[in-house]
Amino acid sequence: MLRADGLTKRFGDKEAVCDVSLTLKAGELFGFLGPNGAGKTTTIRMLAGLLTPTRGEVRIGNHDLERAPREAKKLLGYLPDKPLVYEKLTGREYIRFMMELYDMPSDVLDEAESYLHAFALDSAADDLISGYSHGMKQKIALIGQLTHRPRVLLLDEPTVGLDPKGARTLRETLRALCEQGVAVLISTHLLPVAEMMCDRIGIMVSGRMIASGTVVELQSRYHTDASLEDLFLQLTDATEGEPAG
Ligand SMILES: Nc1ncnc2c1ncn2[C@@H]1O[C@H](COP(=O)(O)OP(=O)(O)OP(=O)(O)O)[C@@H](O)[C@H]1O
Ligand SMILES: [Mg+2]
Repeated sequence: MLRADGLTKRFGDKEAVCDVSLTLKAGELFGFLGPNGAGKTTTIRMLAGLLTPTRGEVRIGNHDLERAPREAKKLLGYLPDKPLVYEKLTGREYIRFMMELYDMPSDVLDEAESYLHAFALDSAADDLISGYSHGMKQKIALIGQLTHRPRVLLLDEPTVGLDPKGARTLRETLRALCEQGVAVLISTHLLPVAEMMCDRIGIMVSGRMIASGTVVELQSRYHTDASLEDLFLQLTDATEGEPAG
């Protein structure tokens, strides 16, 4: 569903992302890990078509993101690390706005209502978003993205700010979407969560993807039965500080 080849991004003379390739199959949940400043957000913004890569290309479904951005982006849902939602709308108005933007049929409204309920937002759904907490804004932004039924979902640190119930609902929602064939990529610093819910993991350090695979594959490659957290710390400590270029 998603394929990135040789993605590279330079800011001035700094290479924030260097030669990153990844594929996401339909129904797969990919966990994108890495220390602060590793290049996760920069990579996700290139995958979402918001940042032009210095080199490399992205395909979403059968569409090249650069040559056919409209078709590619139709398949795409993206939740940025800092959710941008129209503060002057109520939660429900925002959902309707997103549905109209993507020309979605009205039965999606029932689906959105059930998400509002699952994420405990129904009682606040007619309040202005400007009065929402950070976690509530995350939730309404996510529901807004789900209303256009994306085939590829990119979530940048979606668990930040969510309460325990919200975090569990998010995990259950993402699993259900994967079962419907949606390809999901999430970046997170919560390694036990990544270990629990992701099919595959990619670890990024200093702009490079230094390891990827299932947790079992990573353990066997590095001859360890350590938890993902221990493995992550081992790999990132060993790699950080090496020049990225
Ligand atoms: N617009 C920009 N201009 C210059 N440098 C940038 C820009 N955006 C990101 N960078 C740099 O690129 C590098 C990667 O940043 P990025 O935000 O992708 O990291 P991250 O892995 O998402 O980190 P975190 O875990 O803290 O969210 C950092 O060194 C950052 O300072
Ligand atoms: Mg980031």
